[in-house]
Amino acid sequence: MPTKFLIPEEALQPGETIKFEYNQAGVSREGFLARLQDGWVAFENRCRHLPISLDLDNNQFFTPDQDYFFCQSHGALYETTTGKCVQGPCAGAQLFKIPLTFKQGMVGIETDEPI
Ligand code: FES
Repeated sequence: MPTKFLIPEEALQPGETIKFEYNQAGVSREGFLARLQDGWVAFENRCRHLPISLDLDNNQFFTPDQDYFFCQSHGALYETTTGKCVQGPCAGAQLFKIPLTFKQGMVGIETDEPI
């Protein structure tokens, strides 16, 4: 599976996120990469309630306590490690998780299409 490298690991601190574009099944999509207190995750930036971005374009994904990601439209809360919605109109649904790769200090995503 091709890897698309996004950023050096030191470019993000715990509690920070960055957005990126990728292709899946011929469709251009937006994802977000988040550095947690003890790891990294990446998800498609699309709420499971309505097909719109979680952050409404301001790169704010974490709740203030950093315990969850949240959707700014109707307040859905998602677990940061699994992407599962634990509160809100899409409770039980799950964000689409994007596999990560780490190599030579860089963080990348695994894509199903050549970069
Ligand atoms: S669009 Fe995200 S909770 Fe409604």
